[in-house]
Amino acid sequence: MKTIFRKKTMKITMQNGALQVPENPTIGYIPGDGIGQDIFPVAKKVLDAAVRRAYAGKRAIDWQKLLAGGETFEATGDYLPAETLDFIQENLLAIKGPLMTPVGEGFRSINVTLRQKLDLFACVRPVEYFPGIEAPVKHPEKVNITIFRENTEDIYAGIEFASGTAEARKLQQFLQNELGVTKIRFPETSALGVKPVSPDGTKRLVRAAFDYALVQGKTKVTFVHKGNIMKFTEGGFRKWAYEVQAEDAKYANLQLNDVIADNFLQQILLNPQKFEVVATLNLNGDYVSDALAAQVGGIGIAPGANINYTTGHAIFEATHGTAPDIAGKNIANPSSLLLSGVMMLDYLGWHEAASLVKTSLAESLAAGEATTDIGGSLSTADFGKILLAKI
Ligand code: NAI
Repeated sequence: MKTIFRKKTMKITMQNGALQVPENPTIGYIPGDGIGQDIFPVAKKVLDAAVRRAYAGKRAIDWQKLLAGGETFEATGDYLPAETLDFIQENLLAIKGPLMTPVGEGFRSINVTLRQKLDLFACVRPVEYFPGIEAPVKHPEKVNITIFRENTEDIYAGIEFASGTAEARKLQQFLQNELGVTKIRFPETSALGVKPVSPDGTKRLVRAAFDYALVQGKTKVTFVHKGNIMKFTEGGFRKWAYEVQAEDAKYANLQLNDVIADNFLQQILLNPQKFEVVATLNLNGDYVSDALAAQVGGIGIAPGANINYTTGHAIFEATHGTAPDIAGKNIANPSSLLLSGVMMLDYLGWHEAASLVKTSLAESLAAGEATTDIGGSLSTADFGKILLAKI
C-alpha cells in the first residue's frame, strides 16, 4: 500500500478570531539597516534558545528572511519588494529591526507603508522599568503603562498638499467657497493637511485596548486626546471610545477616564502610577510612547508591535532607528528587539519562552550586565552570550 506523507503545515492561521499556531510556525524576519545587523543575530539566537529550553525541542520557529530597507534598495532598486509584503500577507507574522527612512520626496516611510498595507491598526507599546537601568527620573519603577496607538488614521493618513501647489489652492478655494471657511490665516500660501478620524477606526483600537486590559488583569484604561481643541476629530475619538464600554457587557468593570494630551505628558512625570492601559490617536501616541520610553531609561529597551487583531497580521519591531552613529561597532543594545520578540512569543501563546527571555534580560540588567547606552560596559555580542548562558 502506498503511504502518503503529508507535509506538516507550518503556517500560522487565524480561525474564528483565534490565532492557530503550529509547533514549527513560519515567521518572517527583516534584520534591518544600520545596527539591525548588530542586534538581529543576537536576538534571534536568544529567542531560539528560549523556545528550545521552554519546550524541550518540541517547538521551533521556522525563520524566513525577508528583504526590506536600504541594503535591499541597493541590491534590487526597491525598498520594500512585493514578495516581502506577500509573505507577511500569507504567513501573518514578522519581526523586524530598524529600517532607514528613504530621504526625498516620493518615498514613503517603509514602516508606515507596512502598517498601512497590512492595516495594522494597533501600535502596542508596553513601557516598564527594569531595575539596574539608568533612568532620568527619581521613580522610574512607577511606570508600567501599555500604550495602544491608533495606527491608520489621523494626520498620518498622508493627505497633505504643499504650499503654492494647484492642489492646495483648489482645496483652499473649496473650503472657502463651499464650506464658508474663513479661518485660514494665510490662504494664498498655506500648505494644507487632512485629519481623518472615524468611529470605526477608534472603536476597533479601543476594543483591542480593552481586550488587552482584561487578559492582563488590568482595570484602568485612559483615553488621551486633544478634544478641547479639535472637537470633532480628537473629541470624536473621546466620545466613541467611551461608547465601546456600553456596547459589550464584558467591558463593564473597566475603569475609564480621559486626559488631554498635554496634561497627560505632565501626569506621566508626576503620577505615572495612575495609568495602566492608554488608548490614543496616532500623533499623540507617537509623542507619548517615546516620552515614556525615555522616562524608564531609553529607546534602546522599548519594544513595539503593530497588530491587526481581526486578521491576525502582526509585525513586532525594535522601536529605535538604525543608529548610524554606532552601526557596525558591536555596541548597540539588542533589548528593544528582544522585548519585541517577547511580545511575539506571547502573541503566539508561547508564554513560557517569553518569560524565559524577559527574566534573563531583567536579571542581567539588575546585575549591571548591560550595553553602554544604559550604563553598562558590554558589547552587543557579550550581552547576548550572558543572556544565552542564563537561559
Ligand atoms: P535612532 O533611534 O537611530 O538614534 C537616536 C540615538 O539613539 C542615536 O544616538 C543612537 O546611537 C541611539 N540608539 C538608538 N538605538 C540604540 C540601541 N539599540 N542601542 C544603543 N543606542 C541606540 O534615531 P535617528 O538617528 O533619528 O534615525 C536614524 C534612522 O533610523 C533614520 O533613517 C530614521 O528614519 C530611522 N528610524 C527607523 C525606525 C524604525 O525602523 N522603526 C524608527 C526611528 C527611526
